[in-house]
Amino acid sequence: MTMNLLEGRKLVVAVTGGVAAYKAAELVRLLGKAGAQVHVVLTRAGARFVTPVTFQALSGNPVWEDLWDARVPNNMAHIDLSRDADAIVIAPATADVIARLVHGLADDLLTTLCLARTCPLLVAPAMNRQMWEHPATRRNIGLLASDGALVLGPDAGDQACGETGMGRMLEPETLCEAVVRFLSPKPLAGRRIVMTAGPTFEAIDPVRGITNISSGKMGYALALACARAGAEVDLVSGPTGLAVPEGVRCTMVRSALQMRDAVNAVITGADVFIGVAAVADYRPDQAEEHKIKKTGDGLTLSLVPNPDILAEVAARPDAPFCVGFAAESRDLDQYATGKLRAKRLQMVVGNLVQDGLGTDDNRIVLYDADGRHPLPHASKALLADKIVEHLAGLLAAARPARSGA
Ligand code: CTP
Repeated sequence: MTMNLLEGRKLVVAVTGGVAAYKAAELVRLLGKAGAQVHVVLTRAGARFVTPVTFQALSGNPVWEDLWDARVPNNMAHIDLSRDADAIVIAPATADVIARLVHGLADDLLTTLCLARTCPLLVAPAMNRQMWEHPATRRNIGLLASDGALVLGPDAGDQACGETGMGRMLEPETLCEAVVRFLSPKPLAGRRIVMTAGPTFEAIDPVRGITNISSGKMGYALALACARAGAEVDLVSGPTGLAVPEGVRCTMVRSALQMRDAVNAVITGADVFIGVAAVADYRPDQAEEHKIKKTGDGLTLSLVPNPDILAEVAARPDAPFCVGFAAESRDLDQYATGKLRAKRLQMVVGNLVQDGLGTDDNRIVLYDADGRHPLPHASKALLADKIVEHLAGLLAAARPARSGA
């Protein structure tokens, strides 16, 4: 999670009485780490699972448990707490609290707070699967959503009661990402983006191949940033050890030829194509069916060129807005602007390989028709946000978004 994504945001996290309350502690920590000011409201049942001390330590703020809290001079904690909050997040939300919210009950601090609120409400249900499937809960969840609350999850999986099924609260990382996404500006709303990322692996025989040291980190960070900015993202990835970013559709491939096929399968109608992958320029002219045995003599591999996926997409009659990456070991300006022109791209993200390949941070320069725009040295996650900002600006000027965006 990038450090500053929730900078300046104020959130109320409400914890109700379910075993998943222990995960709320981690959620509060993550939201704080992302820069949010967190105020925790703990219901009586919630406090049976985790004590206020834990939430006070993790949020750095006093915990609110009582409607009649004497700390608030005007006795209006239920009004004051939500007035300048950007959102209230109930995690976990029990079947009981959901039912009470739906009926507009206001018999404790949390329900009163929700009824009096002027900010959005995000609800992460957690309950036994039978309770989740009960017609009353189904009805209540539908009503809660139609009242404007955003229902996050639940997930299927093992439950504290020993059963398996729907009703597990989403993991803290997923909930934190959902909050970030909910509150993020959406400059790419209505856009569909196809991207490549990672290295390719060109087989020599069943156990060997040609690849490179690309980690996929920049591409995955950019896919996440695009999705957060409201885009629908199709990521085509070479082999990496990375988790698929939240809210991104991902096709895993190995070779450049497979990557080209996977891109072609989704490119029609895309608004943007971003080639982040370090595609191998050459592949063995044929992969041996069986493992090559050593003979003691030298071995010569015969290589043939791979297709240039980015150049092919940019040359399509219905070419989307095309963004390329240039990783160079010298003369970055010259090579990057050369690629911008030669491949007929609208934007190139350039970096020196010694600054960023395989690492967590990077130093990059953006190139477009207006010239060069250097960005400060930063983490790949932060740079991804900056690239998205620049891309969204160019895109808005070049291709106004379709209605609704
Ligand atoms: N690219 C691609 N398909 C290839 C090769 C590259 O889509 N077969 C894309 C990369 O994803 C990146 C850009 O093209 O966006 C990189 O350009 P390229 O000229 O291939 O870079 P290098 O391979 O480093 O080129 P050179 O060897 O000429 O420096």
